[in-house]
Amino acid sequence: MSGVEGTEPRGGWLEQRLGLRALRTALFDRPVPSGLTWWHTLGSATLTVFLVQVVTGTVLATFYAPSPDHAYESIRFLEQQVVAGRLLRGVHNWGASAMVVLVMLHMVRVFSMGAYKYPREANWVLGVGLFGLVLAFGFTGYLLPWDQRAYWATQVGTSIAGTAPFIGGALATVLKGGSQLGAATLTRFYALHVLWLPAAVVVMVALHLTMVIRQGIAAPARVLEEGAPGRTDDPTYPAHHAAAEGASKREGVRFWPDVIAKDVIVATLTIALLLVLAMAFGAPLEAPADPTDSSYVPTPEWYFLPFYQLLKLFPGSMEATIAVGVPALLVLALVGLPFFDRNSKRHLSGRPVALTSLALLLGGSGLLLGAAVREMQSSAEPVSGRMLGSAERAGRALFERQCASCHVVDGNGGDEGPELTDIGARRSTAWLHSFIENPLNFRPESKMPAFGAPTLSHPEIEEIARYLSALRGPPGRELELNIADTFPEPPPPR
Ligand code: HEC
Repeated sequence: MSGVEGTEPRGGWLEQRLGLRALRTALFDRPVPSGLTWWHTLGSATLTVFLVQVVTGTVLATFYAPSPDHAYESIRFLEQQVVAGRLLRGVHNWGASAMVVLVMLHMVRVFSMGAYKYPREANWVLGVGLFGLVLAFGFTGYLLPWDQRAYWATQVGTSIAGTAPFIGGALATVLKGGSQLGAATLTRFYALHVLWLPAAVVVMVALHLTMVIRQGIAAPARVLEEGAPGRTDDPTYPAHHAAAEGASKREGVRFWPDVIAKDVIVATLTIALLLVLAMAFGAPLEAPADPTDSSYVPTPEWYFLPFYQLLKLFPGSMEATIAVGVPALLVLALVGLPFFDRNSKRHLSGRPVALTSLALLLGGSGLLLGAAVREMQSSAEPVSGRMLGSAERAGRALFERQCASCHVVDGNGGDEGPELTDIGARRSTAWLHSFIENPLNFRPESKMPAFGAPTLSHPEIEEIARYLSALRGPPGRELELNIADTFPEPPPPR
């Protein structure tokens, strides 16, 4: 080191030109209060997963074709032909869920420690905004594979947006890029997902972190509560707060190397978990979107399920009110929180109202999520490996009454006729329909009774045929479609 400070430039070639040392000091050499918990690592873990999403998303975008005709195929290609394509998509898919979980836990941490109170109100509001952006990423990303799940969940999502008072119609049209969910919607969602939302997140994260660095990490609750005036809007509060945080920082530690170790451990474990989940489960991809198949039962991403389930609890006439009212109230409560809660108590044990509200919100969402999952399981058909549509479910009920006495599906049923567990892989819906109507047309010796009218109506037979079409073999061992139908010769013309 040479020279007296201020008279000669310090540092090496790069340092003289960029002056990065100040940045390094601000980022890593800052004082932090001692006694930080593992809960304090959630913010940096969220940032890490966001970077994972940026990297995997960039590679995914390299292979993705954002048009209804090619989107699905491009993802199939990525999964089947590109080295580590399946893994990449899996990480991005699980990373999305991890973002939501981590942001929520981080918010619960900040809430429970009262760290949103004076002087960090603005940063809390920024955080709420970032949470909204994460959900918007989830919603827009869900459509991109353009499979049945994507198409129908987005159909539901945009129609919920459409029920908003006054702006609903316009909102739905803006989201969809027209009156129909189609090519314009996909382009729009893609642009939002890869351009608008990332840009917004980067700006807001930069502000969020700048404020964290400038204001420092909040001192532990008990330090700030000691001898504090009752309310944070008390004129003496700022002086008290500055003294308490200053003392806590002087007695505290440095971010580097004392605190960063915990952050690195949690971030590494999170990434490892993402890799394991991606390898084990990949990312879902159903049949290509079929806008005519209105029997498909849509399922939103899991973190929208509690809300979705809540909507189901109310009669149709109230749905619009709930669909708009509940999210609006939640946003209002979250944004308003630091402004109406001016009590200087920070630890959750001294804040009964906060504790009760948190318990109700988390408990209620948990119950709703549980109910939604249970409902999905009871309507899922294990044999087909996916949720059944309403027509297919009606078909299953008919099948159990009329056919299960002779046919086995997935281990249950009589054995007079052949097992049908994988019939959908071998026969088309049309063939099944005609066969069920009158097996004798196909096999003159058939021992199977004809089910055509008057036994079953045409729509009923169609429902059964659709149900059978969904059966592709036992779970995990579904067969590829291999349909070789032969229809009986039509009677010779007279
Ligand atoms: C009384 C017993 C019996 C009942 C009830 C019955 N089946 Fe069958 N089914 C058979 C037999 C036996 C066969 C074997 C082929 C034949 O004899 O034509 C068969 C064949 C089939 C096949 C053709 C399988 C193949 O691989 O080609 C289908 C599909 C089928 N049944 C569907 C149904 C449906 C759907 C119902 C209810 C609406 C039903 N069966 C009710 C006895 C029955």
